[in-house]
Parts: sequence; C-alpha cells; structure tokens
Amino acid sequence: MIKVHLVPADGGEALTLEAKPGQSLMQAAVAANVHGIEAECGGLLTCATCHVYVREAFIDKLPEPTGDELGMLAFTASPKKPNSRLSCQIALVPELDGLTVDLPATQT
Ligand code: FES
Repeated sequence: MIKVHLVPADGGEALTLEAKPGQSLMQAAVAANVHGIEAECGGLLTCATCHVYVREAFIDKLPEPTGDELGMLAFTASPKKPNSRLSCQIALVPELDGLTVDLPATQT
C-alpha cells in the first residue's frame, strides 16, 4: 500500500490514506470520502475539481503533466500555482509513498 497525506486548506491535520498501487490520487481520495476533492467528471479530465497542490519534495517524482492536464489546470476554482496538479492524473506508484498534497480552498 502507498501512504498519501492530504492537508486541508485551513492547514489542519493531514488526512492519511492507504492507496493501492495503480490507483489515482483522486480515486483514493474519493474512496475515502475526502472533503475537498470533488472529481465531478470521475477522472475524464474535464472538470478540474480534483485540483491539489503537490508538496515540493514530490514534484520531481511525478511525471510532467500532459498538455490536456495543463489545459484543464486553467479552469481550477482556486488559484493555479506552479505545483498545481489534477489528482486524477497522479497514478500512485511505490515511489510516491508518503506523497503529501495541500487541498485548495475550493474546487467549485
Ligand atoms: Fe475531473 Fe480530475 S476528476 S479532471
């Protein structure tokens, strides 16, 4: 299992999840009913409501975003930052054990 940590926008205590390899971060968050990940499109890359901010230590461990992901990142409800990613595009692999992301203040 791969541990991931999601930090709420208010800076409160991080929620730690155990995800299966191959799951997307979005799928793991939705399965755990994480408040703050809406994922309205179910991972089809058409909603941008699965936006997260990836902590610096993990940015280089993620594959570069595709052009389609970059395009959708223009539509996030909370400000887009250099570490913004769409969690449905983050495939959880063992190298990402301990992945920590901050949740945006709003997804809609
Ligand atoms: Fe819709 Fe990620 S779930 S873009």
